[in-house]
Amino acid sequence: MQRPGPSLRFSPLVASALVLAAAGPVGAQHTPEVTEAGLARGEMFYQAHCGRCHGMLGQGGEGPNLARPTLPRAPDHGSLVRVIRRGIPGTGMPGTRSNLVSDLEVDLIAAYVRTLAQDAVVEVAGDAARGQEVFAAGGDCYSCHVVDGRGTGVGPELTGIGLRRGVEYLYAALQTPESELPVSRRGILRGFRGYLPIRAVTREGRVITGMRVNEDAFTIQLRSISGRTVSLRKEDLVELEKQFDHSLMPAVEEMTGADIDDLVAFLADLGEGS
Ligand code: HEC
Ligand code: HEC
Repeated sequence: MQRPGPSLRFSPLVASALVLAAAGPVGAQHTPEVTEAGLARGEMFYQAHCGRCHGMLGQGGEGPNLARPTLPRAPDHGSLVRVIRRGIPGTGMPGTRSNLVSDLEVDLIAAYVRTLAQDAVVEVAGDAARGQEVFAAGGDCYSCHVVDGRGTGVGPELTGIGLRRGVEYLYAALQTPESELPVSRRGILRGFRGYLPIRAVTREGRVITGMRVNEDAFTIQLRSISGRTVSLRKEDLVELEKQFDHSLMPAVEEMTGADIDDLVAFLADLGEGS
């Protein structure tokens, strides 16, 4: 957890000006009334403590999209405060320690996160049914992605992607994949699979490319584009390149704007039970 800089610290005297009234005991279902200045503070704290996983705009990254009308695990202020405090055990969602983030800060973050929902209802321009066809045919997306049990899992599974990712994120993922690489690619692997493209060259000169599935001091396992998993001994390799800034996800440059709109509409619709 990133330590907030001195600019994020402020005196408790200011607190009463940021939270007008907590309509009930702490931790209750009631939402405290927070001023505009309080929400601005909440946004800063959010960016410092949450943005690296959930995206600076809350659109998702290593953690899910928070800019949604309802958060299943945090449907109201009280449950959101609890999730921020305790995290979600057994997942990549960490808790926050009270010596790093005060109760007031948690309240302000929660209030800010709840405002994200208000901007969440985005009209999607495309046609989801056509997007599904593009996904299967022209886009050839199933060759690297699984949706509802169909496809190959070289890239992340896209079942339910509409719940995890906002529309802006989906556009960015399709148009400029390198810019929206999941944070886990950068080496933080907490409960989320990393997608690190690897290029390995054996002593015999064979070149093998694929996604890293697993690695220890002596071996590395890759999943190739064909979906096959290969295990390589590092002592047999003359080259092992980890392509941190490279994405296997092709930018869809040759597609029309309408194709991309339709794909985004299709993906945004992939929700629970889809
Ligand atoms: C280290 C990365 C990381 C950080 C930092 C982080 N989260 Fe998360 N968060 C996750 C992941 C991963 C999940 C999904 C957990 C799961 O279900 O597997 C998650 C889940 C959640 C959920 C549940 C969403 C739902 O679908 O109901 C909420 C709410 C949430 N985070 C809010 C926050 C807030 C607010 C902060 C900052 C105080 C924060 N998170 C910091 C990774 C993170
Ligand atoms: C050659 C394999 C490959 C193909 C083909 C491919 N993808 Fe990807 N995709 C990936 C990988 C790998 C990632 C993981 C992130 C990265 O490395 O960019 C990814 C990430 C994504 C993401 C972001 C997922 C997330 O949760 O962050 C979306 C959305 C996506 N792809 C959609 C598509 C669509 C739509 C198509 C078809 C037009 C497609 N992909 C074709 C490999 C591929």
